[in-house]
Formats: sequence, C-alpha cells, structure tokens
Amino acid sequence: MTGAPPLGTGVLAAMYGAVRAMQLYPAENEVVKRSLREVGEQAERILEHEGGLSVWVAGNYMFVNDLQVRLDLHDYAALAAFREVFRGHGVGRMEADPKTGSEDWHAFLSAIATDPAPGQPPLEALQADLASRGVTHISVGPPSPMFQGSEGEQSLDAARRTYARSVKVARDMMEGLVLGKAIGARRAERAVLAVVDQVLQDPATMLGMLTLRDFDDHSYVHSVNVAILSVALGDYLGFNREQLFELGFAALFHDIGKVLIPQAVLNKMGWLNDEEWRLVSQHPDFGLLMLFNVEGFEDLPYRAMLAVYEHHMKPDLSGYPRVIRRRRQGLFARIIALTEAYDAAISNYSKQFLPCSPDEAIRQLREAESGAYDKVLIRAFVNMMGIFPVATLVILDTGEMGVVVAPNPNPKALNRPLVRIIASPDGERVGEGPIRDLTERDPETGGYRRSIARSTDPGRYGINVADHVA
Ligand SMILES: [Fe+2]
Ligand SMILES: [Fe+2]
Repeated sequence: MTGAPPLGTGVLAAMYGAVRAMQLYPAENEVVKRSLREVGEQAERILEHEGGLSVWVAGNYMFVNDLQVRLDLHDYAALAAFREVFRGHGVGRMEADPKTGSEDWHAFLSAIATDPAPGQPPLEALQADLASRGVTHISVGPPSPMFQGSEGEQSLDAARRTYARSVKVARDMMEGLVLGKAIGARRAERAVLAVVDQVLQDPATMLGMLTLRDFDDHSYVHSVNVAILSVALGDYLGFNREQLFELGFAALFHDIGKVLIPQAVLNKMGWLNDEEWRLVSQHPDFGLLMLFNVEGFEDLPYRAMLAVYEHHMKPDLSGYPRVIRRRRQGLFARIIALTEAYDAAISNYSKQFLPCSPDEAIRQLREAESGAYDKVLIRAFVNMMGIFPVATLVILDTGEMGVVVAPNPNPKALNRPLVRIIASPDGERVGEGPIRDLTERDPETGGYRRSIARSTDPGRYGINVADHVA
C-alpha cells in the first residue's frame, strides 16, 4: 500500500510507458530513450534476482514470474491498457531470458507498439516481426488454455459473487435483528473481508458494481455500495487491511438502526412531520444499540460501532445525534458520510428524486456547502474517482460512446479517464471494444484524439454499464 511499487508492477508500468512513448515520438526522441532505459533497469533487477522474466495475461489478471500483479486503482489504468496491447497481438505470455539486453527490449517494444497488420493472425505476424528484427532473447506465445473463456469473465464473476453475497449477509443480519434473532458476528466479518479483498484486488470492477440494478432491496444495496466506496477510499488513503476491515464493517452496517423504523416512514413521499423526523434521526442511536445485540459483539471493532453512531453528525456537529459536549466526528464516520451521499445521489432509492450521473454526483460533492463534509476527504475522493467516475457512460467528441473503466494514471488528468468504446460514431454497438486513454494525442496536430463531450443516461440506451467495466 505504501513504499516502492512491487517489482512486477514496476516493470509492466515501464514497458507500457515505453510503448506509449514510441507511439507518440520518433525513436531518437529523449522521452523514448528515457523510457527504454527505465525498462532496462526494471527488467535487470528481476532478471538478476530470478534468472528470467515472464509475463502472463490471464483474463483480467497479469502475472509476473508467476506472481499475480496487484492492480490498484491508479496503476490499473496503465496496466489495463498494456494488457490490451498484449491482447491485440494475440499474446498470452512473454518470456525474456537472462541475456536480454537493451537492444532486444527496444526491438520487442517497438514491435508491439505497432498495430498488428491485417490479413495474418496477429501472434504469427508478431513472431515473424520479432525474428526479422533479430530478437532472440524474448519470445511470445498464445494465452494458456487454462485461462481461456470470455475476456474479463473471472474478475467480473468474482466481483458479482462478492457483491451478491454481501447483500445477502446485510439482509439476513438486519432482518434477523428485527425478529430478535441473535446473528453471529463471524458471518458478517467474513462478508466484510470478502468486500475488502475484492476491492484491493480489482477496485475498478468493484466500483463498477455500484451501478448494478439487479437487486430491488434498496437499503441492503445501499449498505454494500457504501462499504465498497468506503474501502476503496480507505485504501486510497493508505489504510492497512485491518483498518479497511473495520471501516468496511462500519460502512456495511451504518444504517442498521433503520430496521426499527416503520417502512411507511422510510419510504414516505414528501416532507416528514416532526414525529416522523424524530424517529428517522434516531437511527444512529438505534444502530449502536443493535450492534450490542449481535452475538459476539465484544469482538466487534469499537471504532466501527462509533462510526455507526456518528455518521450523520457532520464535521461542524450541526447534524444528529445532537451533541452536548464539543467532540470530533471520527474519520470513519466522515468517510461514510461522504460515500453514502455519493451513493444516494447516483441511485434511485428515493422515489422523489431522479438519480444523477456519476459525474454530476461528483460535481455536487465538490460544491457542497462547507461544514457538511470533510474538505480534505472530498478532495481525496474526487482524486480517486476522477471527474468522470468508473462506470460513467460518456459520449466522446468523435461521436463514439464509451464506459469509463478507470481514472487516468496521471492525477493531473482528472477529466481524461480510460474509456472502453462500446459504440462507433454511427451508433453501431461494438460490444467489448478497445480501451482508450483520453490523454492520447494526435501526433500530427498535437491535439487530443478524444475528449468527453458529455455524460449520458445508460437507461436511455438500455445499457448495463456494469457489464463493460471489467
Ligand atoms: Fe446511509
Ligand atoms: Fe444513515
């Protein structure tokens, strides 16, 4: 989470950097030379230690010398794009032997930086190209049959399973508490850990799940969404796994007290009267009390319980429960307050408001009055999500339509995410089209190749964006 990136991530990021540089500049350009030196240094460290370097692409995952490379939300963009470069050439694995030198890297990377020529199977064409360039220490091969299956299926399936399971645990736990049944803390813990690990493993896919509309049980879906967003933000802020677990726990059960409030009040259209409002505003107190009823509650994280109590307090303490003595709303509660506001904005839980697009929800948070949310956390959240968050459906100035799959690895390019193209300018659906980096420039004019013209509503086009993020 902190410190130097692991070797595997470093070498892949360097290779992608060199491919990009070669696509943009002539070979003698300083940027190209620098990026090639970086590849040489990164590869050398691995070759020296491990006597070889192999890269595998399997579904959505990448492995370097058999170790799975962890993609965090920011590397994700570069590495997902690099994975596409491999796939485009039909490459499932690449092996470099210990004698691989800088000339081999140069020749290999410029070969894969070139689009595959039409007419020949791409892998054979690449192998022939490498031979003609005199590359002998680097070889490429097809994907392993072990991993065959539709692209991205594994990770999307795993994310969906974790999501569905968490919704079920949240529902069982809350319904059980209403019926006065003691529900074991262990099961809840396992569900929270599954969310934490899935977010750490593949944050972009998990964030894409926020747009799943397969469940009609609003309160449980909201709980799981807030857990995903909170854990992703906690990871972005550098929390360790233990802290992420506590935060995820608090997020999953932040509204547990609502089960004591009549549905008629929770779903009421229009303004609440004083009595109804008094009830609703007690859900943090109810929630805290209910957590004491959980079997094995002594083991529940204390900070998580506190966050349930504090999540509507607001940093300026103008929220509820009202406080008598001056105190500080805890960090977990501040995170949950922010992520739940975002989730409520993009969802149609309340029939009184139409859901807004993810980019509109981000805009609202940035413009929120001071005192409502923690300013620093808003900044971190926007940096993490980008101006156009994962799963936003966008129309590009080329006329293409696409789904945001990751923020740009360059934190300065907040409004230029990575977009998977799903329809061509003439409106024809291309399904799982290529992933495009919106910072890509046209080498002739120097202008951006693609920019976002506007976001749009997936419902209008019958598109399920969650299908396209992995
Ligand atoms: Fe909530
Ligand atoms: Fe709440």
